[in-house]
Amino acid sequence: MARKPIIVGNWKMNKTPREAEEFMKGIEQVLTGNEAADYGVGAPFVDLDVCVKNAKNLIIAAENCNEKDSGAYTGEVSVPMLKEVGITYCIIGHSERRTYYAETDAHCAAKAKRLLADNIIPILCIGETEAQYDAGETADVIKSQLAGSLEGLTAEEVAKMVIAYEPIWAIGTGKSADETTAENCCKLVRDTVKGLYDEATGEAVRIQYGGSVKPTNIKSYMACPDIDGALIGGASLKVDSFKEIIDATK
Ligand code: 13P
Repeated sequence: MARKPIIVGNWKMNKTPREAEEFMKGIEQVLTGNEAADYGVGAPFVDLDVCVKNAKNLIIAAENCNEKDSGAYTGEVSVPMLKEVGITYCIIGHSERRTYYAETDAHCAAKAKRLLADNIIPILCIGETEAQYDAGETADVIKSQLAGSLEGLTAEEVAKMVIAYEPIWAIGTGKSADETTAENCCKLVRDTVKGLYDEATGEAVRIQYGGSVKPTNIKSYMACPDIDGALIGGASLKVDSFKEIIDATK
């Protein structure tokens, strides 16, 4: 079965609720009648409600969640909370969360399990550092992050997921991976999922490339057989540049 492409913006810690509402009003006009791909944005928690209320076609994703349902975890947000706001996707394991907030593969596995129990699709981020890339360790990092972050998940659960391969050296640097590198790594992600599960699961899982994706390079990634979309930081913040990306993938 053909995989539907999925293009998701990741706003990170940007946009107040008022700014989020303004963006939503601008972008929704672009999306009307466009079914070439699934399009979405990952937004800060306080923006989620206004984004959901203004979304007609756009998927609204949270940028994180806690794997526990409730309790004494100051500052955290649970899956039932996201569910009630109307969230359908959630980014987990972003390299910024792994680096600054000590998020581990084990956390990712627990978060993915909990999200899927409520039918929220996890967008699991993986990717190597520049030092690991230079040392030729990319394949080992991909395989070990996948094994750890998918631990305990069934083939049926993994088939519903989105996995974003984001080399850390390409995030926010303007130094995007060339399409051969991106395709090879996304293919390795797919082959690893096939090895951990089975052929059908690897063929079903949607894999994004992320790292300095722009209106000028999105097309070349989308032409790669194992790249099913992109996770986009900086270029998703302005309606104009996100619109150019959407237009390039129509
Ligand atoms: P940039 O597109 O700004 O490089 O960010 C990529 C990213 O981290 C998306 O999650």
